[in-house]
Amino acid sequence: MTAFTINGRAVDVAARHDTPLLWVIREHLKLTGTKFGCGIAQCGACTVHVDGEPARSCVTPLESVAGRAVTTIEGLSPDASHPLQKSWIAEQVPQCGYCQSGQIMQAAALLASNPSPTREQIIEYMDGNICRCGTYLRIISAIQRAAREA
Ligand code: FES
Ligand code: FES
Repeated sequence: MTAFTINGRAVDVAARHDTPLLWVIREHLKLTGTKFGCGIAQCGACTVHVDGEPARSCVTPLESVAGRAVTTIEGLSPDASHPLQKSWIAEQVPQCGYCQSGQIMQAAALLASNPSPTREQIIEYMDGNICRCGTYLRIISAIQRAAREA
């Protein structure tokens, strides 16, 4: 059993110690907002926060989050009122939507550490999050809007 918190809730998960956190989140805890893209830390679709830091949950073994705080897109705010969630809607960012929870979680980590990033800093920080629909310009605009309006 591995004990940790997810979105503020204490959980105790019975799974092999090397089970990817992404599988635990989706299959054991039934939180399906976090997506599987590549499985090898190359796309960012599976991004969550572990103790506030962005983590690729597809390559994060369950044992590494023991006693730590995991946050998924479902836990970013209790009522979808996070500035990024509002700006994502205002800028109509998603196309197919598949990459977007990972994009928002990566962006949330950026704004938590740097509330007023430059455009260049946004591009650099978001570089590892791939969007096959090419919504990059709207992602940048939404992060800039959230930084302005937070
Ligand atoms: S699914 Fe984890 S980085 Fe692509
Ligand atoms: S919105 Fe389709 S992959 Fe990003």
